[in-house]
Amino acid sequence: MDISRLREMIDDDLPIFFEQQLDEGANRIAAFTRRDPGDRAAFDAHWRRIRGDGRIILRAVIVADDDRVAGHVLKYERGGDAEISYWLGRAFRNRGIATAALRQFLAGVVTSRPLLARAAADNGASLRVLEKCGFVPVARQRGFSNARGEEIDEFVLKLQS
Ligand SMILES: CC(C)(COP(=O)(O)OP(=O)(O)OC[C@H]1O[C@@H](n2cnc3c(N)ncnc32)[C@H](O)[C@@H]1OP(=O)(O)O)[C@@H](O)C(=O)NCCC(=O)NCCS
Repeated sequence: MDISRLREMIDDDLPIFFEQQLDEGANRIAAFTRRDPGDRAAFDAHWRRIRGDGRIILRAVIVADDDRVAGHVLKYERGGDAEISYWLGRAFRNRGIATAALRQFLAGVVTSRPLLARAAADNGASLRVLEKCGFVPVARQRGFSNARGEEIDEFVLKLQS
């Protein structure tokens, strides 16, 4: 049995996602995060936009063992390119959950290619998840990190087929 499964997002997931994205350490590592993760109104408005945008494909990641909500994975359009993104709560990391969830997402939910993904150049865990799912680095860019308050390097990665 897979360690996690995907399902459509429900309203009850929202406060869980909010708590999960408050994690200061994770914000620092992910780097390209919301300006103020503690701003619940801005968070709600952001997620209203996401859920109301028919082009965005979103799934909650559920732990197979106990049905807890581990996080989310989504696909969105950025400058005409399809990109994926994900986030897990701290308690769920380093157990293979992100890799399993992304594999399921890419195999059965979003099957169009190519797909892009981005990760801070020093976000080793995220880069490893993407590598395990077949993404390869195609560019290195500079971008402003809200969480670090400075410009840092990020990799753009591509899944071609
Ligand atoms: C990035 C994230 C999704 C990874 O989820 P996860 O479930 O822990 O990932 P997995 O367990 O499937 O795989 C992690 C892999 O990275 C490796 N890893 C963990 N920390 C690492 C580090 N600092 N440097 C390099 N590799 C690392 C693990 O060993 C594992 O690889 P392995 O299977 O070859 O041993 C999760 O940590 C997260 O949500 N972090 C906070 C937000 C974030 O960074 N989001 C992504 C923004 S691009």
